[in-house]
Amino acid sequence: MGTTNSTTKKRSSKKLNCSLHINDHYNNNSNSKRRFSSESTSSSYSTYSFEQLIKTCGNRQYFNGENVRDIFPIDQDELKRLELTHIWNKELWESEPFLLPVDEVFSRNAKVLDIGCGNGIWSLDMARKYPNCHFTGFDILANFPLDVKESNVDFTLGNILEGLPYDNNTFDLVFMRNMKGCLTQKDYNICLQEIIRVSCRWILVLDSDIILIDGGPLANQLREEVLDELMKKYDINMMPSSIIRKCLEDNNQLSDIYFEDKQCPIGNWGGRLGTIYWQILKWATKNLYHSVSSLYSEEEYNLKVDEAFDELNQYNSYDMVFRICAKKNAEKRKSFTVKKISRKF
Ligand SMILES: C[S@@+](CC[C@H](N)C(=O)[O-])C[C@H]1O[C@@H](n2cnc3c(N)ncnc32)[C@H](O)[C@@H]1O
Repeated sequence: MGTTNSTTKKRSSKKLNCSLHINDHYNNNSNSKRRFSSESTSSSYSTYSFEQLIKTCGNRQYFNGENVRDIFPIDQDELKRLELTHIWNKELWESEPFLLPVDEVFSRNAKVLDIGCGNGIWSLDMARKYPNCHFTGFDILANFPLDVKESNVDFTLGNILEGLPYDNNTFDLVFMRNMKGCLTQKDYNICLQEIIRVSCRWILVLDSDIILIDGGPLANQLREEVLDELMKKYDINMMPSSIIRKCLEDNNQLSDIYFEDKQCPIGNWGGRLGTIYWQILKWATKNLYHSVSSLYSEEEYNLKVDEAFDELNQYNSYDMVFRICAKKNAEKRKSFTVKKISRKF
C-alpha cells in the first residue's frame, strides 16, 4: 500500500523573484504574452531563477537537470509541437472526451488543477467550455499566456517535486497530461502522491506508451537504442502506463480506477489521426537529439530518424495512448475496483 497523507502539507509561500527572470526571458524571445494570477505573482514558493533551471545547447534550450529534468527542449519549437499534440489529443478522444462522469465533475463550480500545463492550452480550452468552473495551470516555467480574457483561469509557478502549494482536498479534479519526458520513475511516486493529496475527488492522467507495435526493423532498432539510453542515463521510462497504474492502485485513498488504452496509427495509413501522430512523434524524436547525443552524431541521428519514420509509414505501425481516471474517497477504502477498456483503431 502507498503512503497516505492525512495532514495538510501546504507549502510555505515565498515572494516570487523568478517570475521576472522568466518573463523577461520570454518577452525577449517570443511574441506571446504571458500572465500570472494575482495569487501566483505575489506568492510562489519556487525560488529558482531562470538561469538556475536552463542550459543552452547550440540554438536550443533545455532544463539543466539539476532541479528539473526534461529530455525534450523547452523552447518555442517544442511549444509548437505541444500545440499540435493538443489538437491530436482532442481528435483522438473526440467521441468520448472524458473518462470521467462529465456532468458530475463539470456541472458544479468545480476547481480544476492542470499539472505541467505548459502554455495552458488544455486549461484555456476547458475554461471556455466550462465557464462555471475554475482552472489553475501549474508549471515550473511561465509559458502561460498573459493576454487571457477568461476570468476563470489562472496560473501558478512551481515545481511539483517540491510539493504543491495547496491544502489537502482543494481541487475537484487534478489533470496531468504528457509528462513522461520530465518525470523519472521515482518522480512519478512523489508527483502522484501530491496530486492525490490536493484532489478531493477526481484524478485524470493522459499519456502514451512508445511501443511501435508492428514497427519495421529500422524503427524498432532506433526505438530500442533511444529508450535504453533514456532509461540508463535519466531514469526516464517512455512507457509510463504501468508505473502510473501501480502508483494509483497502491494508494489506499483511491477507490475506483479506470484505465483505458487506445491504438493510435502512426502514418498516412491511419488517415488524419495517423498522419498527425506520425508528425508529432517524428518531431519529438528529432527534438530528443541532445538527450541521446552520446550515441550518434547529429547528422547520423537525423538520417536514422528519417529512415525509421519512412519505414513506419509503410508498416502500418501503431502506438498505445492511454488515460487513467481515479476517484478519491474521503473514507479509507475497503475495496477498490480497477476497470480496463481497450479500444482498437
Ligand atoms: C511536455 S510538457 C506538457 C504540457 C501540457 N501538459 C500539455 O499536455 O500540453 C511538460 C510540461 O511540464 C513542465 N514541468 C516539467 N517538470 C515540472 C515540474 N517538476 N514541476 C512543474 N512543471 C514541470 C514543463 O515546464 C512543461 O511545460
